[in-house]
Amino acid sequence: MNSADQVMQSYGRCCRSNEFFDTFYRIFLASSPEVRAKFANTNMQAQKLLLRQGIMNVVLYARGMPDTKLRALGCSHSRKGMNIRPELYKLWTESLLKTVRHHDKEASTDTLQAWAEVIQKGVGVILEEY
Ligand code: HEM
Repeated sequence: MNSADQVMQSYGRCCRSNEFFDTFYRIFLASSPEVRAKFANTNMQAQKLLLRQGIMNVVLYARGMPDTKLRALGCSHSRKGMNIRPELYKLWTESLLKTVRHHDKEASTDTLQAWAEVIQKGVGVILEEY
């Protein structure tokens, strides 16, 4: 199975539990004061639903969908938008991998490596818009 398909199946297992996005934001917000500051005025319940779709777009891009949605995300996160510094994507990625490890009981080292590849591809597109 290729990495994108492996991640699709893993994401399906992760999303079975409602707690996946709670765990992600708990870990991500704890990772740096800069991240916390960016979400200071955010409705986190709404944000969790948006991220569910955002991660799906990253996975679909790795499976061959056009990059349109990721480019739009890149624009909203760019200097001209929310100005999310490229360094913060490392924390985002680490937080997501920890969350997957916690929630996908079937995740092997191979699955986590597949996630890392899929995220790297998507983040690459997002950062081209920075
Ligand atoms: C691949 C990585 C990421 C994905 C898939 C993603 C996804 C999203 C989505 C779908 C939204 C809502 C739609 C929009 O505003 O365009 C959003 C908003 C946002 N994201 Fe990201 N994001 C990522 C990385 C980051 C990082 C690294 C930060 C750093 C702090 C961040 C901070 C924010 C903030 C502050 C908002 C707006 C919250 C608000 O409305 O108050 N994102 N993100």
